[in-house]
Amino acid sequence: TLKIIVMIVVAYLLGSIPSGLWIGKFFYHKDIRQLGSGNIGTTNTFRTLGPKAGVVVLFMDILKGTLAACQPYFWGVSASVNPLLIGLFASLGHTVSIFDHFHGGKAVATSAGILLAYNPPLFGIACLIFITTLLLTSMASAASIIGITSIFIIALCEHDWILTLVAGILAAVVLNRHRSNIKRIFAGKESMVSFGLGHYL
Ligand code: G3P
Repeated sequence: TLKIIVMIVVAYLLGSIPSGLWIGKFFYHKDIRQLGSGNIGTTNTFRTLGPKAGVVVLFMDILKGTLAACQPYFWGVSASVNPLLIGLFASLGHTVSIFDHFHGGKAVATSAGILLAYNPPLFGIACLIFITTLLLTSMASAASIIGITSIFIIALCEHDWILTLVAGILAAVVLNRHRSNIKRIFAGKESMVSFGLGHYL
C-alpha cells in the first residue's frame, strides 16, 4: 500500500507540472492564462506562443501521463496495480495543479500519455481519431471530446472494465473542462485551428 500511495502522489505531482504556463513564463515572458482561450494546454500554446512551444508542451504533457502510468512497471508491480489507475492521478493533477493554485488544463494530452503507457496501439487509434476530427472540423476541442469519448466506447466494446472506468472518468473530466468550448461550438464561435493551408483551400 505504501508503494501505491507513493505512486499516486508522484503521478499527481507529475501531472501538476503546468508545462504551457511555465514555458510561456520562462521562455516567452507571457502568461498564457491571459491569452487566447486562457487554457494552459497544447492548443492554446500553439495559438499564443507558436508551433515550437506548442510541440514542446504537447510532448511534455503526454510524457507526464506516460511516466506516471509507467510507475507500476518500474516498481515491478504491474501485475497487481493497473497503470491506468495510477496514471489517472496525473490527469487529475493536470486539471487541479498544485503549481497553479489548483487550477489547470483540460486533461487531453496527459490522458493520451496514460493510454500510451497502457496500450500503445490504442494510443495510435486515439491519435488517428483526434487528427481526423481535427482535419474535418478544424476544432481542437471537438477533436479532444470525440477522441476521449471514442476510447470510452472502444473500452466498453472490448469489455476492458478498468479502461472503461478510467476513460469514463476522464471523459467526464474532459467534457466538464470543455464546457465553454461546447457553448462556443453550438454558437458557431469556437476558434479554428489553421493548418497554414488557407492559401490552397
Ligand atoms: O486540449 C484542449 C483543447 O481541446 C481545447 O483547447 O485552448 O481551444 O480551449 P482551447
